[in-house]
Amino acid sequence: MSGPIGMFDSGFGGLTVARAVIDLLPSEDLVYVGDTGRYPYGSKPLPDVRGYASELASSLVTDFGAKAIVVACNTATAAGLDDLRAEVDVPVIDVITPGAKSLVATTTTGRVGVIGTVGTISSGAYMRSIAATGVPVNLVSAACPGFVEFVERGQITGDEVTVLAERLLAPIVDANVDALLLGCTHYPFLARIISDVMGPLVTLVSSADETAFAVRRRLGEAGLLRDVGGRGVHRFASSGDINVFRELGSRLLGPELDHTESWAAPR
Ligand code: DGL
Repeated sequence: MSGPIGMFDSGFGGLTVARAVIDLLPSEDLVYVGDTGRYPYGSKPLPDVRGYASELASSLVTDFGAKAIVVACNTATAAGLDDLRAEVDVPVIDVITPGAKSLVATTTTGRVGVIGTVGTISSGAYMRSIAATGVPVNLVSAACPGFVEFVERGQITGDEVTVLAERLLAPIVDANVDALLLGCTHYPFLARIISDVMGPLVTLVSSADETAFAVRRRLGEAGLLRDVGGRGVHRFASSGDINVFRELGSRLLGPELDHTESWAAPR
C-alpha cells in the first residue's frame, strides 16, 4: 500500500520512535515532523497541545498523503486522541498504550514507575492506561522538567544532566521499583544516565519498540503494510530551524536524516 507513515512530536523525541519503525519496517516510507518551532509541549496547557496535534495530523494526511499517523509524543497523546481519531480518516497509533502494556509485562515485583513531562504526568493518562491493562501494580510517577530541554540542546551526557536526574528520580529510587517506563519520547536519549541513577536492578522500558510493533500490527490489520522489499523513503520536516534539526537530528536518529524540509502550521 502506498503512502508514508506520518509521525510527529514536539521536536527530536519522536525520532526514538522513528528509529524503531524504520528498523522494524524498512520498506515503509515515513514522514516525520518535529514541531521545534512550538516546542516544548510538556509545559503547555493540554488544549493547546491538542490543537497542535490536530494541525500536524491533518497536514500529514492532506499534504503528505500519510496512510497512518503515529503520535510519537506522550504529551500529545495525553492531551486526548478521541477527537483526533474522528478528524482523520486513517489509523492513529499512540505511544502510551504500548508503553503501559510493556511496563506491566516487564515488572516481576509489581512496583513500577513512570516518568514524563508535567503535562503527561498531571493528565493521569498513564494511570488510566495501566489500570486498563487489568494488571494490579503499584505505580509511582514523577514529572522530569528539564530533561527535554537538555535533549533539544543536544546535551545528553555530563554532570549537569546527572545532577538533575539524581534529584528528579529520587522518589522513584526510594519507591524500589523494578521497572521504569520512559513516558516521554525524548527520554531514551538520556537512558544511560537514567539507568546509572536507577541502578542495575531496574529495567528501563521505552515505548519506542512497542509502538513500532503496534504500528506493524495496526497496518497489517488495516491491509496497509507495504511489503515490497528495499528501503523506503524517509522525509523529515521541522517548524523550527531546519539546519539545526538536520544536524542534531542526524546525530540522534542516524544517517537517514540527511535533509530537513520546512513545515509551517496553518495560519
Ligand atoms: N517528546 C514529548 C513527549 O513524549 C514531549 C516533549 C516536550 O515537552 O515538548 O511527551
